[in-house]
Amino acid sequence: MRIPAEGEDGLFTQSWFPIAMSSEVRCGQLIGRDFLDGKVLVFRDAAGRAQVLSGFCLHVGTDLSNARVVDDCVECPFHHWRYNVDGRCIATGIGDPVPPRAQLFRFPTVEKFGLIWAFNGEQPLWQIDDLSAPYAEEELILRVRQEPRHYDLDPWVIRANTPDWQHFAFVHGMAIQGDVAERFRWSDYRVALDVDVHLDHGSGESLEYRIQISGTTIWSNVGKLSGKWHLQLSALTIPRPGTCSHYYVLAAPRGDGSARTLAAANGFLDHLESLFERMLREDARPLANLHYKPGLLTAADKALARYLKYIKDYPRAHPSRDFIT
Ligand code: FES
Ligand SMILES: [Fe+2]
Repeated sequence: MRIPAEGEDGLFTQSWFPIAMSSEVRCGQLIGRDFLDGKVLVFRDAAGRAQVLSGFCLHVGTDLSNARVVDDCVECPFHHWRYNVDGRCIATGIGDPVPPRAQLFRFPTVEKFGLIWAFNGEQPLWQIDDLSAPYAEEELILRVRQEPRHYDLDPWVIRANTPDWQHFAFVHGMAIQGDVAERFRWSDYRVALDVDVHLDHGSGESLEYRIQISGTTIWSNVGKLSGKWHLQLSALTIPRPGTCSHYYVLAAPRGDGSARTLAAANGFLDHLESLFERMLREDARPLANLHYKPGLLTAADKALARYLKYIKDYPRAHPSRDFIT
């Protein structure tokens, strides 16, 4: 089975992509980011709303990441066209009337789990789930990180790590009971797996994995480590075709907010983070220089084969193409 690469024929999978950490863009500020095969802007207005917009001015194409924010608008450094948070040009610097189609591409944008996300589409095909339930986000301590390195892989190749459940044992030393392949649940935009494992080849902690892949970019686990509830979320974005960059979020309940419970929750998050980073290190060797191609799959690869079909059938589009490049 041949799966199109991200960017092939100018198309990318229609998923939610993390563009920046919430903490990177303060009120009244903007940053530029490479995204897909172009450039976008994350602008947060004075009221705190963050919006992902195409990154080049519609006049003659200046890079708007060099723009200033003036009167709650992005002001292009070249001829001072001004864009509001919705990406609509509301004034030209010279005073000519604004051309009727002067509207930057406005990506569907949400802010969740300490990240600002954009959907590759005019409208989202699905929403990011409320993964922290039964807790509200304010009831959690969130740790939001970005790995400093890039991977020379498409996000879906890294997300294939879950349906490739054989590697749980070989790479991560997890002991699992029974036939995992039969426990996957499939829908158009989600893959889910509930599985209980023991770390360190069965001698270590118990981990209740309640895993979900959302779209082609998000992996989440709302699980329990030695009985303790937590959320792990890993999200991949495409700064340019053939590469991806990785954000991850770890969360645990903050409890009653007292110094003692906060210290306990932070201690648990330290432990969770060291475990998560251990798994990233363990995955690093098989993923290094990986030339992914679905080859000679065996019976044990049943879930992986199904996942590859999910990815092959996944919708692809690039409606922002004329704006971000
Ligand atoms: S290029 Fe932006 S106003 Fe002219
Ligand atoms: Fe892995």
